[in-house]
Amino acid sequence: MKNLYRPIESVIEDIKQETPNINTYRFRPKEPVTFAAGQFVELTVPGVGEAPFTPSSNPNVTDTMEITIMEVGSVTEALAKMKVGDTVGIRGPYGHGYNLTDFEGKEILIIGGGVGLAPLRSLILALFDDIDRYKKISIRYGARTPEDIVYKDLLPEWEKMKNTEVQQTIDEPHPDWRGTVGVVTVLLDDLPLVTTVDVDVPFHAETAIACVCGPPIMLKFVNVGLLQKGFKPENIYHSMERNMSCGLGKCGHCMLGEYYICKDGPVLTAAQIEKFGDPF
Ligand SMILES: Cc1cc2nc3c(=O)[nH]c(=O)nc-3n(C[C@H](O)[C@H](O)[C@H](O)COP(=O)(O)OP(=O)(O)OC[C@H]3O[C@@H](n4cnc5c(N)ncnc54)[C@H](O)[C@@H]3O)c2cc1C
Ligand code: FES
Repeated sequence: MKNLYRPIESVIEDIKQETPNINTYRFRPKEPVTFAAGQFVELTVPGVGEAPFTPSSNPNVTDTMEITIMEVGSVTEALAKMKVGDTVGIRGPYGHGYNLTDFEGKEILIIGGGVGLAPLRSLILALFDDIDRYKKISIRYGARTPEDIVYKDLLPEWEKMKNTEVQQTIDEPHPDWRGTVGVVTVLLDDLPLVTTVDVDVPFHAETAIACVCGPPIMLKFVNVGLLQKGFKPENIYHSMERNMSCGLGKCGHCMLGEYYICKDGPVLTAAQIEKFGDPF
């Protein structure tokens, strides 16, 4: 039986700088680590510690795993000093990801803020692998400045995919930016308050799915915005990035009411968390 506590030695095969403080690392684990989009792993930097991250690579690729990581503290800063050829540990995957069979035949709205687009990237790539199963995919992404945008080279490629659109915004006006300005909720402005009528609108909120990942304040306001537009709470999926330790539902670090975010999440619907008032 697989030992979920045992980190698997994984060699850093590539490091790509996305922004001044965010890199995408490609790891080659010594044995395959399979995961579903939305699940997370614990990554160990030897001699420093471990931290939870959601892979950003395609879940259908099992020999390597990419993770896009922002430098914020001890583990992430130590990782940023490592080089191609160095070894880390990866254990997991843990928790529940997205149930893609629920998404079939539906319009999918993906909303990311900052490094929050990283966990959504594995979802986007999984959706692209079966693109005919989904009615439409809309990726809406907000970053602080043009410099803070992750996947600068991938976003234009994603826009070329069938039935897919990409919209971006930055928080404040910037001399290098000619697109939309404002926090990510401005990208909800074109969604109609119409719900069920089958006319040509960006999303039929009654049936559409929304997947959201970003800083807590963003989740809070996007959640309010989507509910106002008529999205159903059971169709709004949030990536909840609580402080975690064991990752296995044992230590209680990540509890939200009756939920262990590590075990019952990290992807939870607005319907599951609405009773907590402001759970973000
Ligand atoms: C399920 C899950 C998935 C995640 N996926 C990703 C991912 O794909 N990419 C990614 O970059 N991060 C992700 N995170 C966040 C990541 O786990 C933390 O950034 C990491 O634990 C920080 O570890 P550290 O040792 O570097 O920082 P620490 O030394 O633990 O923290 C140092 C300081 O940074 C602050 N801090 C900690 N986390 C964050 C944060 N997320 N943002 C801003 N400040 C923070 C702390 O409050 C503290 O002040 C995820 C978290 C969870 C729970
Ligand atoms: S991280 Fe230990 S119970 Fe969730």
